[in-house]
Amino acid sequence: MKKNEINRMKLEFDALSSNEAFARQTLSIFAASLDPTLEEISDLRVVISEAVTNAVVHAYKNNGGKVVITASLYEDRRLKIKIRDWGCGIEDIEKCLQPLYTTDASGERGGMGFPIMQAMSHKFRVTSSVGHGTVLYIEFKFS
Ligand SMILES: Nc1ncnc2c1ncn2[C@@H]1O[C@H](COP(=O)(O)OP(=O)(O)O)[C@@H](O)[C@H]1O
Ligand SMILES: [Mg+2]
Repeated sequence: MKKNEINRMKLEFDALSSNEAFARQTLSIFAASLDPTLEEISDLRVVISEAVTNAVVHAYKNNGGKVVITASLYEDRRLKIKIRDWGCGIEDIEKCLQPLYTTDASGERGGMGFPIMQAMSHKFRVTSSVGHGTVLYIEFKFS
């Protein structure tokens, strides 16, 4: 383990919308040892849901695939999360981070997933490679 790291986990699951709840519950339970507030847990749950939804509907276009979440807890009450998919990837990350930007044609999605993830976390970074997949680096700092 890295310096000041107190716990670490890795979760691999199929890109199914039914696994959104599974992922968000698992991360909430993992974070519980830091005793986050209800609001902090609520933010964490929203961020995980948005991220997993994007992997399911955008990266893999609802055709399934693999999602891996790794997370670490630190002595200074940080939770660092990495969410990885091996889907279509993102061509223009800056554009996708803009509020209301969506490539969804169904009218079901509002293009607020990334802005919400950014606003609710302490640090947020996206790396992606077209045809290879996307990695989200998300950090929470609990009070
Ligand atoms: N994991 C991903 N793989 C490929 N494209 C993605 C991924 N996550 C997000 N995107 C792209 O970024 C856009 C914006 O995402 P988001 O802000 O969550 O809005 P929405 O999901 O409502 O479209 C999506 O419409 C999609 O084009
Ligand atoms: Mg989204």
